[in-house]
Amino acid sequence: MARIIITLSTPLFFFFLFSLLFHQTVSQPEHMVTFCNPSDNFTRTSSYEANRDLLLSSLRDSSSLGTYSNATVGRGPNKVHGTFLCRGDTTAASCSDCVQTAIVEIATNCSLNKAAVTYYEECMVRYSNVSFFSVLEVRPSIVRYSLRSAPNSDTFNETLADKFIQLILNVSSSSLVPYFVEDQERVTQVEGSYEFESMVQCSPGLDRFNCTVCLRFALLRVSTCCGSPSSALIFTPKCLLRYQTSALSSPPPLSPSPPPPLSLPPPPPSPALFSPPPTLSQPPPPPLVFTRPQDVPSLSGSFSNVIKGNEIFGRMAITMAALVFALVNL
Ligand SMILES: *[C@@H]1O[C@H](CO)[C@@H](O)[C@H](O)[C@H]1NC(C)=O
Ligand SMILES: *[C@@H]1O[C@H](CO)[C@@H](O)[C@H](O)[C@H]1NC(C)=O
Ligand SMILES: *[C@@H]1O[C@H](CO)[C@@H](O)[C@H](O)[C@H]1NC(C)=O
Ligand SMILES: *[C@@H]1O[C@H](CO)[C@@H](O)[C@H](O)[C@H]1NC(C)=O
Ligand SMILES: *[C@@H]1O[C@H](CO)[C@@H](O)[C@H](O)[C@H]1NC(C)=O
Ligand SMILES: *[C@@H]1O[C@H](CO)[C@@H](O)[C@H](O)[C@H]1NC(C)=O
Ligand SMILES: *[C@@H]1O[C@H](CO)[C@@H](O)[C@H](O)[C@H]1NC(C)=O
Repeated sequence: MARIIITLSTPLFFFFLFSLLFHQTVSQPEHMVTFCNPSDNFTRTSSYEANRDLLLSSLRDSSSLGTYSNATVGRGPNKVHGTFLCRGDTTAASCSDCVQTAIVEIATNCSLNKAAVTYYEECMVRYSNVSFFSVLEVRPSIVRYSLRSAPNSDTFNETLADKFIQLILNVSSSSLVPYFVEDQERVTQVEGSYEFESMVQCSPGLDRFNCTVCLRFALLRVSTCCGSPSSALIFTPKCLLRYQTSALSSPPPLSPSPPPPLSLPPPPPSPALFSPPPTLSQPPPPPLVFTRPQDVPSLSGSFSNVIKGNEIFGRMAITMAALVFALVNL
């Protein structure tokens, strides 16, 4: 935590804003994090504000029509671009509910910021004065994961890698729902069997190549952030990846395992809020290598968090580069 503040406060003077909601019922959209950009504000009653508000209300209106929408409002320097994306496994009603909640959150908590993004477990909403629809970005991202260890933890990383490599291949060749693939499998191993639910999804604005790049980045983050949690969700500006396991025949899980040691990645050499992924110019290599790329500027902290449901204790890792929209020339 201290590391985050230090890094973000130097040389560029900005901060990030997040809020965690601790007591929620299962039916409410689960807020994860909101990033506002305080280095770039507009003034109250400006055209930009009017356009931003119009944009958010247009997104709210289209949230009952589908799981993705984009919109642009205004002209010249007062132009605002915005989008929402719901998880492909949410119902139309929870998508709409999530987007509406997220819009209130972003309008309240980033009231005068020129650009912002908020992530919920079920959706994300974002706006900016810079057009971003088909651009690949991997930050800011958030990982939420269970403190419980995955079943069969000795081999879980292999199972996870095999499953998601397949899902990522499938999502970029799927011609069904754009960029959303889910899977449910009963994994049976000598140590025990378990249900393994998994999904990957990209923003429809991405092309297939960049969808693959985004998801490979997300898989790498999830595989290296926090041990082998029994469930995890990563949301980046352009893609998300999620899995959940439940043991069936293995011995009862040990009492919730202590938080795995969380290794902090190195501080960002070149801060940028919505930043492109590390290896943009290269096609993704077929075998996924589980090492942290040295050129990924990212920063993470961890927060204890109480989640209602079958996981009593959760933990959040917030990952982001320094929050400078102005440096991002996208
Ligand atoms: C933008 O507004 C936030 C408060 O909303 C403030 O903390 C920040 O300093 C402002 N940034 C600039 C560049 O004025
Ligand atoms: C963020 O929004 C929540 C309600 O959604 C509110 O309780 C909280 O005070 C807001 N935080 C800031 C810094 O505006
Ligand atoms: C977005 O706003 C920033 C800061 O006001 C400005 O530097 C940048 O040129 C704007 N970008 C566009 C596309 O208007
Ligand atoms: C992928 O994203 C980058 C950056 O947004 C973009 O320049 C490129 O055209 C996209 N598509 C491919 C195939 O690289
Ligand atoms: C899984 O973890 C083991 C040791 O914990 C390691 O040797 C192996 O390379 C990992 N496999 C993958 C696919 O990351
Ligand atoms: C990927 O697609 C193939 C062919 O459609 C299918 O057999 C397989 O089950 C899919 N795998 C996953 C993990 O979705
Ligand atoms: C914006 O959304 C519309 C549908 O609402 C879609 O047809 C269009 O391709 C989207 N554009 C981008 C760049 O995502």
